[in-house]
Amino acid sequence: MKMKILVVYYSLTGNTRLIAETAARKLGAEIEELRDRKSRIGIRGFVTGGLDSLRKKRAELAPPRYDIRDYDLVLVGTPVWAWNMAPAVRAYLTGRPWEGKSVALFCTTGGTGQQKTLDGMAALVSPARILGREAFCRVERNPAENLARLNKWLAAMVNPDEEKK
Ligand SMILES: Cc1cc2nc3c(=O)[nH]c(=O)nc-3n(C[C@H](O)[C@H](O)[C@H](O)COP(=O)(O)O)c2cc1C
Repeated sequence: MKMKILVVYYSLTGNTRLIAETAARKLGAEIEELRDRKSRIGIRGFVTGGLDSLRKKRAELAPPRYDIRDYDLVLVGTPVWAWNMAPAVRAYLTGRPWEGKSVALFCTTGGTGQQKTLDGMAALVSPARILGREAFCRVERNPAENLARLNKWLAAMVNPDEEKK
């Protein structure tokens, strides 16, 4: 039977969006973009975004459209901000009914903080079953390489052709 899959992500500059949209298309999944009510634009947004992430703050989110209870597998993606997940993703992951869910976690990064970020996400979705975790580095510079990596990652978790039927 076809699995119901949801891809949830936050993205400021498009890298995580590219991975999330590609994954959703390949899996025939619904997609949810998280909206942080705080502006993260410009130097001020960069600094407060980094500080809020470092301090493990949770963003105020616009209400999500989809409910994880309706899905078998939920993929969640974040950019790495100051070696942590973005505040929008921390807010989303915190306190949701993860018990009994299968989850796959990913981040996009300039090259540092990916393990710490994925560990932090894994802790928040406990006791969910984590099917996979993956980091995509410098997506804006190496999109083709990262999309190939995504294909391999998805294929190791689910059969994408099977899911599209
Ligand atoms: C506020 C802020 C903090 C960041 N901190 C890090 C970091 O600690 N390590 C890193 O490798 N990249 C860092 N980056 C770069 C992003 O992780 C990277 O560009 C990511 O792919 C952006 O995803 P997005 O385009 O989906 O927003 C930071 C970017 C921002 C805006």
